[in-house]
Amino acid sequence: MKSTITAALLSLGMLATPAAAGNLPEGMGPLPTSVPAPADNPTTPERVELGKKLYFEPALSKSGHFSCNSCHNLATWGVDNQRFSIGHKWQRGGRNAPTVLNAAFWSKQFWDGRAPLLEDQAKGPPLNPVEMAMDSEADAVSRLTEAGYTPLFDKVFGKNSLNYDNIAKAIAAFERTLITPNAPFDRFARGEGDIPAAAKRGMKKVAEIGCTSCHAGPLFTSNEFVRFDYGSDHGLKSVTGRKEDDHVFRVQSWRNVAMTAPYFHDGSAATLQEAVATMARVQLGIRLGKRDIDDIVAFLETLTGEMPGITLPVLPRPSGHALPWKE
Ligand code: HEC
Ligand code: HEC
Repeated sequence: MKSTITAALLSLGMLATPAAAGNLPEGMGPLPTSVPAPADNPTTPERVELGKKLYFEPALSKSGHFSCNSCHNLATWGVDNQRFSIGHKWQRGGRNAPTVLNAAFWSKQFWDGRAPLLEDQAKGPPLNPVEMAMDSEADAVSRLTEAGYTPLFDKVFGKNSLNYDNIAKAIAAFERTLITPNAPFDRFARGEGDIPAAAKRGMKKVAEIGCTSCHAGPLFTSNEFVRFDYGSDHGLKSVTGRKEDDHVFRVQSWRNVAMTAPYFHDGSAATLQEAVATMARVQLGIRLGKRDIDDIVAFLETLTGEMPGITLPVLPRPSGHALPWKE
């Protein structure tokens, strides 16, 4: 029955060509094109444009030096390629900066999931003492007021709307546009292109040995939180305090993973080969040979998508004098 329907859809050109569709392990597929957004923060072009300014806005940091883009550089796949990012006064935090690309698809934000939505997440960095180090929400708002943001917020959110919640909303709206479609794998999945033979072997391998029980579906993450018994970070336990949450982390997506080294929450794996070997050993109790590792890496490389076209925004500034940055 199912195959009759499939055949009918295929003949109508409504499915990918049999060559690709037939060869895909269960669950795999192209990156979704529709991006979920909360009802109170629709992804309107006006919000996105304002959010883009704020994303690149160093005035949201005490020193006037750090923006979201400092650590999640959109010229380098939404990461800084540092083991631990450099923030206020050259301090380094204790976790690796994940990419903002496709973050709109994650069930919760941060390695330990402590922010449910992008809106919640965006409120953290400006006040984080080792990141942007603003003293308070009020300071962030008055900084943006001095810079000249009031009319921009009025236009997007209504009168007297320059507040911390709306700063976060605009940034989140912008982040929902940071989606990377059309990876070689996606084209292959749609029957529009091919991927190298090694990548095909890798694709079969990850399904066969069970990587895709966690790195599942078109996002290559189940979006669940699972135990990763590795390193000294307590993961979810640092949020909940519960013993059973020790070393529990969100399954990271494989989308663009080839471009976001180093790997893991502590950035301890310098190469993708090393990350793959460690995963197989720690999560599955398997020691992979070099050929399998290389095949899997070749597959992961096909998950690098297209960057959204982003033009640098021009930020509002007072004329004739600089903003009063602080130490
Ligand atoms: C100094 C570096 C730094 C700056 C500046 C910074 N971040 Fe981050 N970001 C990080 C690190 C490190 C993490 C991971 C922290 C954790 O999980 O505990 C992170 C996590 C995130 C995540 C979660 C992604 C995921 O996969 O869970 C998002 C989204 C994000 N940042 C967006 C932003 C936005 C928006 C800004 C600006 C308002 C910003 N960041 C500023 C370093 C930075
Ligand atoms: C039991 C669930 C599970 C299985 C099985 C699993 N992973 Fe993971 N994977 C995770 C989690 C959780 C993380 C995040 C690790 C962290 O917090 O550092 C992760 C992270 C990764 C990363 C690093 C991503 C990044 O951005 O730093 C790679 C690469 C990876 N896995 C590949 C694999 C491969 C290849 C396999 C099969 C050999 C595999 N995983 C099997 C749960 C799993």
